Amino acid sequence: MSYLPASDRYTKIDYNRCGRSGLKLPPVSIGLWHNFGDVDDFENSREMLHCAFDNGITHFDLANNYGPPPGSAERNFGKIFAQDFRPYRDELIISTKAGYHMWEGPYGEWGSRKYMLSSLDQSLQRMGLDYVDIFYSHRPDPETPLEETMGALDTAVRSGKALYVGLSNYRPTEFKEAVRILRELGTPCLIHQPRYSILDRWVEDGLLDELDETGVGAIVFSPLAQGMLTNKYLTEIPADSRAADVNSPFLQEAQVQQTMNTVRALNEIALVRGQSLAQMAISWVLRRSTVTSALIGASRSAQILDILAGLEAAPFSDEELSAIDHA
Ligand SMILES: NC(=O)c1ccc[n+]([C@@H]2O[C@H](COP(=O)([O-])OP(=O)(O)OC[C@H]3O[C@@H](n4cnc5c(N)ncnc54)[C@H](OP(=O)(O)O)[C@@H]3O)[C@@H](O)[C@H]2O)c1
Repeated sequence: MSYLPASDRYTKIDYNRCGRSGLKLPPVSIGLWHNFGDVDDFENSREMLHCAFDNGITHFDLANNYGPPPGSAERNFGKIFAQDFRPYRDELIISTKAGYHMWEGPYGEWGSRKYMLSSLDQSLQRMGLDYVDIFYSHRPDPETPLEETMGALDTAVRSGKALYVGLSNYRPTEFKEAVRILRELGTPCLIHQPRYSILDRWVEDGLLDELDETGVGAIVFSPLAQGMLTNKYLTEIPADSRAADVNSPFLQEAQVQQTMNTVRALNEIALVRGQSLAQMAISWVLRRSTVTSALIGASRSAQILDILAGLEAAPFSDEELSAIDHA
């Protein structure tokens, strides 16, 4: 069946300006880390992207290594793009990243110019794109000079293979230095992609302030703590959840068990606010204006719709915020 996007897709959400740039992003973006690999149901992946775009989500986030197997999320996205989204290329912000292990040998990971630029070429080929909107350094490389990695990002833009560049998982000091180098090169850093959720607040220790100062936006990943900040693990670990999925080694059942009491307490606060826990977790990361977009994952369209339905919630009271901190 051919796909025709909903004609009212731009009436549903307000877009946020990314730092001091000209680019606006949806308050919720979709990441393809899980549920888009060769091990997943292709038609379900496709339906989720339709659902997202139909509801105004214009940003899809990828990386070279998403799958499994690595590369397959980009390949599957490429198929969906060719089938359904090619006429809408100018309405989409598509990002990819290089930094983690992707191929054998000394040039298959980290931050060398050699790796970054060949990885970008491979990503474009897998996705069938001429350019990505945002190309990220996925993680800082302790051994490669920052000048070299930032120089590769600058080259990506100058060669027309990326429109903007971003940094992910950079700590405040290295982020500040990278931003300075990029500015000198004439390719300003658009965005930082760090992990941030009610359960993981490391960015509050300097990074968010640095982002405000430099005018760089933030898109925060795993705002639902990979699903722990939802109502799915309140009583047990369901068989169809990420924690129970053998293809998802990054969320262990033990981690889920350890947070269950906290999550139950947070769920009570969400109910009083009239939100699902997942909705409250998203409202919570978006309460800081530095955060341009919450980058979620989903295993089915209903989860995306649930998140979107919570975007209009009232701001947090001081009492609610301290109850969340207490939990
Ligand atoms: N830059 C980096 O280093 C980095 C690292 C990690 C992720 N990311 C990016 O961030 C994206 C999101 O990461 P994430 O998948 O960990 O995010 P997340 O939003 O914290 O977790 C997503 C999971 O939460 C569950 N979920 C989502 N909505 C729900 C709802 N309404 N009700 C109940 N459960 C719900 C689903 O779990 P089930 O699958 O169990 O249903 C879903 O797979 C990735 O796809 C990737 O693009 C970047």
